[in-house]
Amino acid sequence: MTKRLPDFPWDSLADHAAKARTHPGGVVDLSVGTPVDAVPEVIRRALSSVADVPGYPTTHGTRELRAAVVGALARRHGVTGVEPAAVLPTIGSKELVAWLPTLLGLGPGDVVAIPALAYPTYEVGAKLAGASVVRLADGEPPPEGTRLVWLNSPSNPTGRVQGAAALARAVADARAVGATVASDECYLALPWDAQPVSVLREDVSGGVRDGLLAVHSLSKSSSLAGYRAGFVTGDPRLVAALLEVRKHAGMIVPRPVQAAMTAALDDDAHVAEQRERYRRRRAVLLPALRAAGFAVDHSEAGLYLWSTRDEPAWDTVAWLAERGILAAPGTFYGPTGDRHVRIALTATDERVAAAAERLA
Ligand SMILES: Cc1ncc(COP(=O)(O)O)c(C=O)c1O
Repeated sequence: MTKRLPDFPWDSLADHAAKARTHPGGVVDLSVGTPVDAVPEVIRRALSSVADVPGYPTTHGTRELRAAVVGALARRHGVTGVEPAAVLPTIGSKELVAWLPTLLGLGPGDVVAIPALAYPTYEVGAKLAGASVVRLADGEPPPEGTRLVWLNSPSNPTGRVQGAAALARAVADARAVGATVASDECYLALPWDAQPVSVLREDVSGGVRDGLLAVHSLSKSSSLAGYRAGFVTGDPRLVAALLEVRKHAGMIVPRPVQAAMTAALDDDAHVAEQRERYRRRRAVLLPALRAAGFAVDHSEAGLYLWSTRDEPAWDTVAWLAERGILAAPGTFYGPTGDRHVRIALTATDERVAAAAERLA
């Protein structure tokens, strides 16, 4: 089984991480997008409020949680008309990404289309199902035989935002070959120079949600990566099919996390605060990288600066590690990332300032 899977990419960074750790000021690890800020009090209170609930939680999530998702999608992202029944909580979004092709019944002979530069788990999910993968350049339509198309705007790793018209075209191209569309929208709440939109908005979906799924995560917007909190919604028939399998398979979000998610989705203030923290860090790192001779491409939204010194990615990783800074080579995300590194905004203000100083 594991033979089918690629090597875990971060393992190959170990030597550079060791080098970066020898810096007298300590390492600044910008290689992973893991949140570092406190979990908001309102969420922690909700988590512990149901610490003494001994029964099994429901796979479909509490009524309150599904209502909170519907409310947050409308308020934050202009997505209206979502039925609570078409909302399904997930144990973070990575597990859903990894298992979606399997849960949808895909297998050998089926094709999963992913962006040319993509979060590695899209490929892992296809491989777990025994399906094959095709990487699509920007705007390239999926080939015949494609059963699932992954979209990701804002993108990990490039921070690229596709506007409503581009997403609508991607949806139309997927529908033309009868493929389901899964739109990974985990960075939607982090816009900088461009406004990302959900695939469920009418100007993208054409008002028809058939074959569409939007995958959301609370990891970044609410600093809840440690809780494992996400959800999927969209085509009610697809969500019902996912629910059925997930009930059988025990893919259940723990009850305290369901309560925490409900509180997080009902409160927009902490999301705005977190966004401002990342905005400040970006405002320090972006000019520091440019002053050090980097070009930063795309990066209009989300948590990453897609940066290049116009040299092989691993040379840039090594150059940064000399300065005690750890970044991810673009090759982790696809062959066309071979001259970029991905630099995350997820470090404390103090570490981000240290990185900027070392780049100067
Ligand atoms: C594009 C993308 N999708 C999904 C995830 C998974 O996030 P989580 O499992 O924390 O919800 C990540 C995490 O970095 C990501 O970058």
